[in-house]
Amino acid sequence: MTTRSLGVCYYPEHWPEERWSGDAARMVASGIRWVRIGEFAWSRIEPRPGQFEWDWLDRAVRTLADADLAIVMGTPTATPPRWLVNRCPDMLAVDADGRLRTFGSRRHYDFSHKGYLAEAVRISSAMAERYGRHPAVGAWQLDNEYGCHDTTLSWSPAAAAGFRQWLRRRYGSIADLNGAWGNVFWSMEYGDFDEVELPHCTVTEPNPAHAMDFRRFAADQVVEFNRALAAAVRPHSSGRPLLHNYMGRIIDFDHFEVGRDLDVATWDSYPLGFLLDRAVASVEHQRHYARQGDPDFQAFHHDLYRTVGRGRLWVMEQQPGPVNWAPYNPDPAPGMVRLWALEAFAHGAEVVSFFRWRQAPFGQEQMHAGLERPDGVAAPALAEVRQVAAELEARPIAGTGASEAAIVFDYESAWAWTVQPQGQALDYFALIFEVYRACRRHGLSIDILPPDVGDVEGYRLVAVPGLTTWRPALIEALARFSGVAIIGPRTGSKTGAMRIPDRLPPDLPPTLLDARVVRVESLRADMAVPLAQGGAFTGWREKVEGDAMVMERTVDGWPAVLAQGRVRYLCGWPDEIAMARLIEDVVRAAGLAPRALPEGVRIRRTADGYAAVNYGLDAMPLGADLTALGLPDSLDGCDVAFSAAG
Ligand code: GAL
Repeated sequence: MTTRSLGVCYYPEHWPEERWSGDAARMVASGIRWVRIGEFAWSRIEPRPGQFEWDWLDRAVRTLADADLAIVMGTPTATPPRWLVNRCPDMLAVDADGRLRTFGSRRHYDFSHKGYLAEAVRISSAMAERYGRHPAVGAWQLDNEYGCHDTTLSWSPAAAAGFRQWLRRRYGSIADLNGAWGNVFWSMEYGDFDEVELPHCTVTEPNPAHAMDFRRFAADQVVEFNRALAAAVRPHSSGRPLLHNYMGRIIDFDHFEVGRDLDVATWDSYPLGFLLDRAVASVEHQRHYARQGDPDFQAFHHDLYRTVGRGRLWVMEQQPGPVNWAPYNPDPAPGMVRLWALEAFAHGAEVVSFFRWRQAPFGQEQMHAGLERPDGVAAPALAEVRQVAAELEARPIAGTGASEAAIVFDYESAWAWTVQPQGQALDYFALIFEVYRACRRHGLSIDILPPDVGDVEGYRLVAVPGLTTWRPALIEALARFSGVAIIGPRTGSKTGAMRIPDRLPPDLPPTLLDARVVRVESLRADMAVPLAQGGAFTGWREKVEGDAMVMERTVDGWPAVLAQGRVRYLCGWPDEIAMARLIEDVVRAAGLAPRALPEGVRIRRTADGYAAVNYGLDAMPLGADLTALGLPDSLDGCDVAFSAAG
């Protein structure tokens, strides 16, 4: 059985050296086994070009190793130092309005700047040569949070040059590009690749095909950057897994693609910050869960990144107290730090590591809590960390179990929805998340799958909402699928070139689903269209023709749900009531028993039973359905339970 363990993020360069060994000893005494260091330390590792100062880092590594901690070494490539920016001023990224993103924080580099890439490879190789075989170095983190702070897209001269080359490779001839993009529209035809600019600052919207290709290009730059770092580190550090710490709801690059060059997917989980700055949540929901976080947001990302990591998942940074970067930064309710950690383990995390050991009294994050206060006294989360360590010791967690349901998640679809939303507030992630939440409320365990998945046998239910462009492998997998598939709305609505498909959406063979979307409309929030059996479509609906059976209509008579064999099609975006009902129907159709979980309670199959979490502040009776799974009769507020069987 994989041993599950705890970690912490530590910045020896922030503290006097005399404190390091005491810090390390207290980490170990708290049950912490892993320590991540180095990822922002470039200006101390190489204070002047080519002059490396390894001594301090050697001593830090030795101190941590002597305490028996395992080290995750970070490449410091998210924080290029000032001297490097002086040398290559054009490595800075440019925002969509054409303004330079200047030095003075972090992530200021442009992914497509080849000079910077060479520097990032140079520093990463130097670090890997020095520490790659150190017995205490157990893993590498490449860079830090690709795409965070809106940094995937850059509108720089380097990006423009790289984009033109990318287009040349993709299309071969400018005539083919003009044809694929449909540039005859508005006389946008080009005579040469050199004439193509980045799709910004146009008078009105740019051609969606142009915008989409730019996003694909930008996402490819992240893949190439990461691949180059992996190639720099791997040969010097054999046997040590390469990781990256992804973020919550950052979808500007394709994490599945980046993940192929890495060994483990890790992510940074800040439940309270996310609830206020990026979750799919009403104001009431934000208020209700202000100290606990959204009950599904963390789980969604565990399930997503478990797939990105091909089964290997860590949480690299776990929120330990108030953060500094959300619109408001409340204190977690007592018990939540423990709950978040145990929930991550139930979803398959091998390591949960906390950010950070001690709160820094200086710099941008001086208001961000750590496990210790700035004065070195234990902060409240440290007791919960110790408790989790003791629990892991007393009773190992078997890891995650097999999921009954799967949802296909596609980064390109997220870009396509952004490029051509067709209605304010229509957001691909939100649709996916609402389907995920509805499935979880019925007690399902879920895997998130990539769009090119070629086999879905093994699941009873597969949802494919909002997938803009089909990959043939998925259509073939659905054609063979013996469970129930729920597709739509907006699935199959574009070709890869951002055109309406010839046979019209959802662009499926009639043998699978005989349906054609002949009209779509987007709707103001106050224009919901009621469904005959309760709830409504909001924001988006489609008029569909074809021979598939109409299972339900809107009250004004448009088909709302279609069925053909094991496939269902959803002709609009259901509100919460309709979503709950429709998902319950498909859960039943898939031969599963929907469980109405109490508010705030969620369950997840583990390898040997079930885990239940209560995101509510108050104790909740779990009900007969859950006690039948071996779970207790009730769960305290902010508490976790594992089934007796498990
Ligand atoms: C993460 C980042 C850390 C730290 C943390 C604060 O996004 O990786 O370096 O900034 O947020 O919450």
